[in-house]
Amino acid sequence: MKATEIQALPKVELHRHLELSLRHSTIKELAPQFGIEIPDEATFASRFLIDQPMNDLGSVLNKFLDTQLLLASDEILERIAYEACEDAFKIENIRLLELRYAPTFVTYRHPDLDFDKIHQAIVRGVQRAEKDFKMAVGLVCIIQRILTVADAERVTDFAIDNKDTFVGLDLADNEVGFDSKPFSPFFMRAKKAGLHVTVHSGEANVPNAPRYVREAIEYLGAERIGHGVQVYRDPETMKYLIDKKIPLELCLTSNYLTQAIAGEKSQHPFKQLMEAGVLTTINTDDPGIFNCDMNSEYQLFADLFQFGPKEFNYCNKIAAEHCFIPAAKKNKVWPV
Ligand code: ADE
Ligand code: ZN
Repeated sequence: MKATEIQALPKVELHRHLELSLRHSTIKELAPQFGIEIPDEATFASRFLIDQPMNDLGSVLNKFLDTQLLLASDEILERIAYEACEDAFKIENIRLLELRYAPTFVTYRHPDLDFDKIHQAIVRGVQRAEKDFKMAVGLVCIIQRILTVADAERVTDFAIDNKDTFVGLDLADNEVGFDSKPFSPFFMRAKKAGLHVTVHSGEANVPNAPRYVREAIEYLGAERIGHGVQVYRDPETMKYLIDKKIPLELCLTSNYLTQAIAGEKSQHPFKQLMEAGVLTTINTDDPGIFNCDMNSEYQLFADLFQFGPKEFNYCNKIAAEHCFIPAAKKNKVWPV
């Protein structure tokens, strides 16, 4: 498919981290204010981008720390939220967009910002974008797996207190050594309050990955799985997902860069999962850092797997059906 045809397809994206979706020109403008000089493109790329596979997921997560430094005020957060939506709509033609963020990722380097201040700024940016562009945006709150139980509880309370402006709750970061089970009471409480649940699971190439995916569903009530790519190794877990109609939020470039899937991008099992009947969706994860967007991601699928409008429309239909944004709001902008 030609780039213009890909751009023209209306799209749905379910898995995108707001804090790692900064416009490159905005990073370049903000960085010097935080002591990071960017004299040239090479410096920018080496400080802020990942374009070659790193050793593992942990190395990639560490690379986010320079970007974290820039999330320093409510003005900046409102701006990046608006710009993320603007670029999604104008450049990628995304009509339904879920953006997720971890309040503790922001406060970690900026303890003067509290959760409410952060959230209100982000909501202002998103709501302004929804007025300006024919799109619907849903915010998902993230609990980081590395948090203490007390902090995980605080984030849960915060998500529930803001259930009118969050559509769901997620659990992110590396799951190795951070089982799902201890988080179960928090997710059960969030579900009861009416929040939807998606969980990062089955991402890294570790022996127990398919089991982690089942646990995310059984202990946390996950309705969708962030990544889940490793289930391709386990037909039983694939069948489990198919029977339960639980979609995967697959992120091909991300999986390549974290070495979740070793080798070339063409070795990614997306098509294998889709053809087996697992519900598959296409996502970017951290587009500001991975130097990708939905257009470049679709181009990869077209080039590597011969995807055309039929396959893209199929994946978008799944994404729209399983998108956590309330139906009344979704229906105003989708189908286009
Ligand atoms: N947070 C941001 N990107 C992530 C990823 N790919 N996996 C887990 N946590 C993340
Ligand atoms: Zn993610």
